[in-house]
Amino acid sequence: MRMFRPPSIPSSEITSETTWLRRRELLAQGAGLAALVTLPGCFAGQESHAATEPSTLRALEGVTPAPRRFRTEEAQTPFEDASTYNNFYEMGTDKGDPVRNAHRLRPEPWSVVVEGEVGKPGRIGLEDLLAPHALEERIYRLRCVEAWSMVIPWVGIPLGAVLARFEPTSRAKFVAFETLVDPEQLPGQKRQILDWPYREGLRMDEAMHPLAILAVGMYGRVLPNQNGAPLRLVVPWKYGFKSIKSIVRIRLQAERPETSWSQSAPREYGFFANVNPEVSHPRWSQARERRIGEWRKRPTLMLNGYAEQVGHLYKGMDPKKLY
Ligand code: MTE
Repeated sequence: MRMFRPPSIPSSEITSETTWLRRRELLAQGAGLAALVTLPGCFAGQESHAATEPSTLRALEGVTPAPRRFRTEEAQTPFEDASTYNNFYEMGTDKGDPVRNAHRLRPEPWSVVVEGEVGKPGRIGLEDLLAPHALEERIYRLRCVEAWSMVIPWVGIPLGAVLARFEPTSRAKFVAFETLVDPEQLPGQKRQILDWPYREGLRMDEAMHPLAILAVGMYGRVLPNQNGAPLRLVVPWKYGFKSIKSIVRIRLQAERPETSWSQSAPREYGFFANVNPEVSHPRWSQARERRIGEWRKRPTLMLNGYAEQVGHLYKGMDPKKLY
């Protein structure tokens, strides 16, 4: 299967061939192939639902490879694993449920409400949300709180630049995010596993950090539904549950927002959820992780390897208290 790889040439030299449209054609070919590949043991026998591709994104031009500080050189997790082993409780609690139920989600048309402490609140269509921004490829580690990890080439835009367009007021100290609520599209919502909608939040300085992105694609493809189409957060120095999927609402506010996992199990999941090998989860150690596709566990890195970039945000904070 041909997949988009970040070219090692400057973006100015990338020809118009590497356009989104072309990659969509490749995806159409690749999607068929994806259904044929042999999946690792635990996924055997599962149907592989290909990504649905919202035509909203059809007009998008080429993707700029991000500067080095936004890319790990580690081996990328195969697309087949990253799109079939998922946490998306609105589509079921089993890791294979999201890909099975993904076809129910309609990522188009899609709009997002931006409200609260902003000068310019409103509902904005996905295309208009993306329009002023260059799409970038960011290759990040994703470390899940369950002690597995992946390396994923995301396609997205910096969250901070998007928020700035809505003109945050001086009272905006936190950002709250919400996922779509629609039990027909997200059948897991028929059960009260969490208090829907799925909610997440960031402190304003975290949200404005250039590492935090809103993703609309991965592996040069439009984001598969099971990975949070059409718009999800990616905050690579935090445990994966902070990376909320299928976002429909963004609220800037003065108070710290309630978040789904810290509401449902406050002793186990904190608001900050910074990856920290020295702070154990109450039921297991966070010192090591299993990279999907590898057997030997590897040490977990402080702030998932992004300590140099974001460590200053947490200076003076006790990670055992503010976990
Ligand atoms: N977002 C929503 N709306 N619902 C969820 O259940 N799970 C989170 C996060 N975002 C989740 C969510 C968790 S626990 C993880 S590890 C990541 O999504 C997984 O993202 P991935 O499936 O793309 O690997």
